[in-house]
Amino acid sequence: MIVETVRKVLEQLDSSGSEADASGWGSALGSRFPELEEEYRKLIDPKRDPIDYSGTVTQAAYFHRYVAGHALLTCEVLKRVRALVGRPLFARSELRVSSLGGGPATELLGLLQYICEVGDEGVRKIQYRIFDKEAGWQHPAELLCSSVESEVAVELEFRQLDVTNVSECSKVDVSGDDLVILGFFISEVCVLPQSNDILSNIGGILSRMGASANLLYIDSDAYSFYSFMNRCAGRVRKLAQLVEVQDKIGADNIEMDGIFLEYLEEFGYGLKLSGKVVAKYFEKT
Ligand SMILES: C[S@@+](CC[C@H](N)C(=O)[O-])C[C@H]1O[C@@H](n2cnc3c(N)ncnc32)[C@H](O)[C@@H]1O
Repeated sequence: MIVETVRKVLEQLDSSGSEADASGWGSALGSRFPELEEEYRKLIDPKRDPIDYSGTVTQAAYFHRYVAGHALLTCEVLKRVRALVGRPLFARSELRVSSLGGGPATELLGLLQYICEVGDEGVRKIQYRIFDKEAGWQHPAELLCSSVESEVAVELEFRQLDVTNVSECSKVDVSGDDLVILGFFISEVCVLPQSNDILSNIGGILSRMGASANLLYIDSDAYSFYSFMNRCAGRVRKLAQLVEVQDKIGADNIEMDGIFLEYLEEFGYGLKLSGKVVAKYFEKT
């Protein structure tokens, strides 16, 4: 499900991008892959500029290189959490899920794959909200939802939110959510100059989670990232950490073909399907 959905979205982004700029598309993509990689290498540098995800070039590059891997990680972490807690993770057939810094609905894809693989969660519908600074992610997120083949119905809502903005964050209400997700998001914001506001904004949002709601954190394995998560969680009363995973996770055995192979051959970048991550699963008691 994951790789096929990413392929369909990438094909659509690629065809609209190359139609809009037939002569420049290939060279723009060719330079965006190494730039993005460099930007991720510099995430812990407080002097770096925020990463700009607007524009089809960046979105296609991100889809090709990172989305399948992040979705696979989400699915794998949920399976590990499930094995460790020893019971289904969701109590309701209609779930409400919010993803902060959710980008193009990457974690939704991992969640749908998890529900499909375990088979007994009983989830029939997901109301999925993305809160993200980059409004340009709404279209790829909608493409993802219309491309995914799943028995679970999905209702997508995209809300633009900048976690540095105190007033915007004070209006985010996650009190009816079953699950809140922070996937590869803390790494993007934890060293920004406004990190104190971000800490209290994220802490404030998470404090509004209702009793028995869960929080899933996944990010690259770096002390700055997970210690910031711990500080956010420390601001939330009655939030208990149930599971922590620190491991190299992923799938390296997926065969590249079609557009993935074309991109690999033309730009030298394949899908990044594994990485060292830290994941945490919390429950509001
Ligand atoms: C590495 S991407 C992760 C996206 C998605 N969770 C995934 O794993 O594919 C980081 C996301 O954080 C968002 N972001 C960065 N700064 C933000 C901010 N100040 N407020 C809200 N979202 C932000 C970006 O737009 C981007 O979608």
